Amino acid sequence: MSLQVYYEDSFRSENGRSAADFSAEVIYNSKGLANYAMESKSRFLPDLDWKGMTVAEMGSGRGGLGLHLARLGADLTLVDFSPSALEQASQLYAIEGFIPELVEADLGLPDVNLDKKFDLIVDSHLLHCLTSDPERFSYLAFVRDHLKENGIFVAETMVHRKKLFIPDGFMFDQNNILWQMFGEWKPVRRILDSLDLENELNKVGFNITYFYYYASFGFVPHKSFMEIPSEILPAAVRMVLKKKVE
Ligand SMILES: C[S@@+](CC[C@H](N)C(=O)[O-])C[C@H]1O[C@@H](n2cnc3c(N)ncnc32)[C@H](O)[C@@H]1O
Repeated sequence: MSLQVYYEDSFRSENGRSAADFSAEVIYNSKGLANYAMESKSRFLPDLDWKGMTVAEMGSGRGGLGLHLARLGADLTLVDFSPSALEQASQLYAIEGFIPELVEADLGLPDVNLDKKFDLIVDSHLLHCLTSDPERFSYLAFVRDHLKENGIFVAETMVHRKKLFIPDGFMFDQNNILWQMFGEWKPVRRILDSLDLENELNKVGFNITYFYYYASFGFVPHKSFMEIPSEILPAAVRMVLKKKVE
Protein backbone atom coordinates (compact mmCIF):
# COMPACT_ATOMS: atom_id res chain seq x y z
CA MET A 1 0.00 0.00 0.00
CA SER A 2 1.37 3.45 -0.88
CA LEU A 3 1.29 6.16 1.77
CA GLN A 4 -1.03 8.18 -0.42
CA VAL A 5 -3.53 5.30 -0.30
CA TYR A 6 -3.00 5.03 3.47
CA TYR A 7 -3.79 8.74 4.03
CA GLU A 8 -6.69 8.69 1.59
CA ASP A 9 -8.18 5.60 3.29
CA SER A 10 -7.91 7.17 6.73
CA PHE A 11 -9.61 10.41 5.58
CA ARG A 12 -12.18 8.46 3.56
CA SER A 13 -13.14 6.48 6.66
CA GLU A 14 -14.36 9.82 8.08
CA ASN A 15 -16.45 10.72 5.03
CA GLY A 16 -19.65 9.70 6.84
CA ARG A 17 -19.17 12.44 9.46
CA SER A 18 -20.55 15.89 8.77
CA ALA A 19 -18.19 18.86 8.88
CA ALA A 20 -20.27 20.27 11.74
CA ASP A 21 -19.39 17.12 13.65
CA PHE A 22 -15.58 17.29 13.22
CA SER A 23 -15.17 21.09 13.08
CA ALA A 24 -14.67 21.61 16.84
CA GLU A 25 -11.82 19.08 17.08
CA VAL A 26 -10.07 20.31 13.89
CA ILE A 27 -10.29 23.95 15.01
CA TYR A 28 -9.13 23.14 18.56
CA ASN A 29 -6.20 20.95 17.43
CA SER A 30 -4.85 23.60 15.06
CA LYS A 31 -5.23 26.60 17.36
CA GLY A 32 -1.70 26.49 18.88
CA LEU A 33 0.12 26.47 15.58
CA ALA A 34 -2.31 29.02 14.12
CA ASN A 35 -1.38 31.37 16.98
CA TYR A 36 2.28 30.82 16.17
CA ALA A 37 1.60 31.63 12.47
CA MET A 38 -0.20 34.83 13.55
CA GLU A 39 2.68 35.87 15.85
CA SER A 40 5.18 35.16 13.04
CA LYS A 41 3.19 37.27 10.59
CA SER A 42 3.05 40.17 13.09
CA ARG A 43 6.79 39.92 13.63
CA PHE A 44 8.09 39.29 10.12
CA LEU A 45 5.37 40.73 7.85
CA PRO A 46 4.14 43.62 10.02
CA ASP A 47 3.11 45.84 7.12
CA LEU A 48 0.82 43.33 5.43
CA ASP A 49 -2.87 43.23 6.15
CA TRP A 50 -4.41 39.77 6.69
CA LYS A 51 -7.23 40.80 4.39
CA GLY A 52 -6.34 39.51 0.94
CA MET A 53 -3.02 38.01 2.06
CA THR A 54 -2.17 34.99 -0.07
CA VAL A 55 -1.65 31.98 2.21
CA ALA A 56 -1.06 28.32 1.34
CA GLU A 57 -1.27 25.39 3.72
CA MET A 58 0.82 22.42 2.60
CA GLY A 59 -0.25 18.88 3.54
CA SER A 60 -3.34 20.63 4.81
CA GLY A 61 -5.50 17.64 5.66
CA ARG A 62 -8.78 19.33 6.59
CA GLY A 63 -7.07 22.73 6.65
CA GLY A 64 -7.60 23.57 10.33
CA LEU A 65 -4.63 25.93 10.59
CA GLY A 66 -5.65 27.77 7.43
CA LEU A 67 -9.22 28.16 8.66
CA HIS A 68 -8.00 30.34 11.55
CA LEU A 69 -6.20 32.52 8.98
CA ALA A 70 -9.19 32.63 6.61
CA ARG A 71 -11.17 34.05 9.54
CA LEU A 72 -8.72 36.98 9.55
CA GLY A 73 -9.37 37.61 5.86
CA ALA A 74 -6.54 35.61 4.25
CA ASP A 75 -7.03 34.13 0.80
CA LEU A 76 -6.40 30.38 1.36
CA THR A 77 -5.02 27.68 -0.91
CA LEU A 78 -4.96 24.15 0.52
CA VAL A 79 -2.65 21.52 -0.95
CA ASP A 80 -2.82 17.81 -0.14
CA PHE A 81 -2.61 14.54 -2.05
CA SER A 82 -5.75 13.15 -0.39
CA PRO A 83 -8.95 14.07 -2.28
CA SER A 84 -11.08 13.11 0.74
CA ALA A 85 -9.08 15.45 3.02
CA LEU A 86 -9.63 18.32 0.56
CA GLU A 87 -13.32 17.55 0.22
CA GLN A 88 -13.71 17.55 4.02
CA ALA A 89 -11.76 20.82 4.21
CA SER A 90 -14.06 22.44 1.67
CA GLN A 91 -17.11 21.36 3.73
CA LEU A 92 -15.50 22.68 6.91
CA TYR A 93 -14.73 26.08 5.31
CA ALA A 94 -18.21 26.28 3.80
CA ILE A 95 -19.73 26.34 7.31
CA GLU A 96 -18.22 29.82 7.69
CA GLY A 97 -18.77 30.87 4.07
CA PHE A 98 -15.14 30.48 2.93
CA ILE A 99 -14.17 28.99 -0.42
CA PRO A 100 -10.48 28.00 -0.36
CA GLU A 101 -8.64 27.05 -3.52
CA LEU A 102 -8.05 23.28 -3.37
CA VAL A 103 -5.03 21.68 -5.03
CA GLU A 104 -4.58 17.92 -5.14
CA ALA A 105 -0.86 17.30 -5.59
CA ASP A 106 1.92 15.05 -4.36
CA LEU A 107 4.37 17.54 -2.89
CA GLY A 108 7.16 14.96 -2.81
CA LEU A 109 7.32 15.00 -6.61
CA PRO A 110 9.50 17.44 -8.55
CA ASP A 111 8.00 20.16 -10.76
CA VAL A 112 4.70 20.73 -8.95
CA ASN A 113 3.72 24.27 -9.94
CA LEU A 114 0.76 26.33 -8.74
CA ASP A 115 1.33 29.35 -11.02
CA LYS A 116 0.89 31.58 -7.97
CA LYS A 117 3.13 32.95 -5.18
CA PHE A 118 2.27 33.40 -1.53
CA ASP A 119 2.92 35.89 1.26
CA LEU A 120 2.75 33.07 3.79
CA ILE A 121 3.12 29.29 3.44
CA VAL A 122 2.31 27.15 6.47
CA ASP A 123 3.15 23.53 7.16
CA SER A 124 1.54 21.73 10.08
CA HIS A 125 3.40 18.39 10.15
CA LEU A 126 3.91 17.59 6.46
CA LEU A 127 7.71 17.93 6.25
CA HIS A 128 8.43 14.98 8.56
CA CYS A 129 6.06 12.82 6.46
CA LEU A 130 8.44 13.20 3.50
CA THR A 131 11.09 10.59 4.14
CA SER A 132 13.55 10.48 1.22
CA ASP A 133 16.11 13.18 0.35
CA PRO A 134 14.70 13.72 -3.19
CA GLU A 135 11.11 14.12 -1.88
CA ARG A 136 12.20 16.56 0.82
CA PHE A 137 14.32 18.54 -1.62
CA SER A 138 11.45 18.74 -4.15
CA TYR A 139 9.04 19.90 -1.46
CA LEU A 140 11.34 22.50 0.09
CA ALA A 141 12.32 23.82 -3.37
CA PHE A 142 8.61 24.04 -4.21
CA VAL A 143 8.00 26.12 -1.08
CA ARG A 144 11.00 28.37 -1.81
CA ASP A 145 9.83 28.94 -5.39
CA HIS A 146 6.24 29.72 -4.34
CA LEU A 147 7.13 32.40 -1.79
CA LYS A 148 6.83 36.04 -2.80
CA GLU A 149 10.04 38.05 -2.44
CA ASN A 150 9.39 38.87 1.24
CA GLY A 151 7.18 35.87 1.93
CA ILE A 152 7.66 33.59 4.92
CA PHE A 153 7.37 29.84 5.47
CA VAL A 154 6.12 28.93 8.95
CA ALA A 155 6.35 25.28 9.95
CA GLU A 156 6.38 22.86 12.83
CA THR A 157 8.16 19.54 12.44
CA MET A 158 9.52 16.74 14.60
CA VAL A 159 13.23 16.30 15.32
CA HIS A 160 15.32 13.59 16.91
CA ARG A 161 16.63 13.88 20.46
CA LYS A 162 19.10 10.95 20.55
CA LYS A 163 16.84 8.68 22.59
CA LEU A 164 13.75 7.37 20.86
CA PHE A 165 11.38 4.63 21.97
CA ILE A 166 10.39 2.31 19.11
CA PRO A 167 7.26 0.20 19.70
CA ASP A 168 6.60 -3.14 17.98
CA GLY A 169 5.66 -2.72 14.33
CA PHE A 170 8.15 0.15 13.80
CA MET A 171 11.88 0.45 13.17
CA PHE A 172 14.23 3.43 13.00
CA ASP A 173 17.22 3.33 10.62
CA GLN A 174 20.61 5.06 10.40
CA ASN A 175 19.17 7.73 8.05
CA ASN A 176 16.69 8.75 10.76
CA ILE A 177 13.78 7.22 8.87
CA LEU A 178 10.97 5.67 10.90
CA TRP A 179 9.47 2.61 9.18
CA GLN A 180 6.11 1.03 9.88
CA MET A 181 5.06 -2.53 9.08
CA PHE A 182 1.99 -2.64 6.81
CA GLY A 183 2.53 -6.24 5.61
CA GLU A 184 5.81 -4.81 4.30
CA TRP A 185 8.02 -2.07 5.77
CA LYS A 186 7.07 1.46 4.65
CA PRO A 187 8.94 4.68 5.49
CA VAL A 188 6.51 6.93 7.38
CA ARG A 189 8.52 9.69 9.09
CA ARG A 190 11.92 11.38 8.77
CA ILE A 191 13.08 12.53 12.19
CA LEU A 192 16.28 14.48 11.57
CA ASP A 193 18.59 15.94 14.18
CA SER A 194 17.90 19.66 14.33
CA LEU A 195 21.39 20.52 13.03
CA ASP A 196 20.86 18.29 9.98
CA LEU A 197 17.50 19.97 9.43
CA GLU A 198 19.18 23.40 9.50
CA ASN A 199 21.79 22.21 6.98
CA GLU A 200 19.08 20.84 4.71
CA LEU A 201 17.18 24.15 4.79
CA ASN A 202 20.33 26.13 4.04
CA LYS A 203 21.20 23.89 1.09
CA VAL A 204 17.78 24.44 -0.50
CA GLY A 205 18.29 28.20 -0.27
CA PHE A 206 16.46 29.37 2.83
CA ASN A 207 17.52 31.94 5.37
CA ILE A 208 16.50 30.68 8.78
CA THR A 209 14.82 33.66 10.38
CA TYR A 210 13.59 31.84 13.49
CA PHE A 211 14.31 28.31 14.70
CA TYR A 212 13.18 27.17 18.14
CA TYR A 213 13.73 23.67 19.53
CA TYR A 214 11.02 22.64 22.02
CA ALA A 215 12.95 20.12 24.11
CA SER A 216 10.17 19.48 26.61
CA PHE A 217 7.57 18.75 23.94
CA GLY A 218 7.09 15.07 23.06
CA PHE A 219 5.90 14.66 19.46
CA VAL A 220 3.74 11.56 18.95
CA PRO A 221 4.62 10.17 15.48
CA HIS A 222 1.73 7.67 15.54
CA LYS A 223 -0.96 6.59 18.01
CA SER A 224 1.17 3.54 18.95
CA PHE A 225 3.54 6.03 20.66
CA MET A 226 0.76 7.70 22.66
CA GLU A 227 1.65 6.45 26.15
CA ILE A 228 5.42 7.02 25.80
CA PRO A 229 7.09 9.61 28.12
CA SER A 230 8.01 12.78 26.23
CA GLU A 231 11.78 12.48 26.87
CA ILE A 232 11.96 9.38 24.63
CA LEU A 233 9.71 10.79 21.91
CA PRO A 234 10.85 13.15 19.13
CA ALA A 235 11.02 16.86 20.08
CA ALA A 236 9.48 19.70 18.04
CA VAL A 237 10.97 22.56 16.04
CA ARG A 238 9.03 25.65 15.06
CA MET A 239 10.63 27.73 12.38
CA VAL A 240 10.21 30.72 10.11
CA LEU A 241 12.13 30.74 6.81
CA LYS A 242 12.64 33.23 4.01
CA LYS A 243 14.18 32.49 0.66
CA LYS A 244 17.73 33.72 0.20
CA VAL A 245 17.98 36.70 -2.08
CA GLU A 246 20.65 36.20 -4.77
C1 LIG B 1 0.42 14.36 9.62
S1 LIG B 1 -0.86 14.85 8.52
C2 LIG B 1 -1.10 16.57 8.99
C3 LIG B 1 -2.44 17.09 8.54
C4 LIG B 1 -2.72 18.54 8.96
N1 LIG B 1 -1.79 19.46 8.36
C5 LIG B 1 -2.72 18.67 10.47
O1 LIG B 1 -1.81 19.28 11.04
O2 LIG B 1 -3.65 18.11 11.08
C6 LIG B 1 -0.01 14.97 6.98
C7 LIG B 1 -0.87 15.48 5.85
O3 LIG B 1 -0.04 15.61 4.71
C8 LIG B 1 -0.61 14.95 3.62
N2 LIG B 1 0.53 14.43 2.83
C9 LIG B 1 1.44 13.50 3.22
N3 LIG B 1 2.35 13.33 2.25
C10 LIG B 1 2.01 14.17 1.23
C11 LIG B 1 2.56 14.45 -0.04
N4 LIG B 1 3.64 13.80 -0.49
N5 LIG B 1 1.97 15.40 -0.82
C12 LIG B 1 0.85 16.05 -0.39
N6 LIG B 1 0.28 15.83 0.81
C13 LIG B 1 0.85 14.89 1.62
C14 LIG B 1 -1.52 13.86 4.18
O4 LIG B 1 -2.58 13.51 3.31
C15 LIG B 1 -2.01 14.54 5.46
O5 LIG B 1 -3.15 15.33 5.22
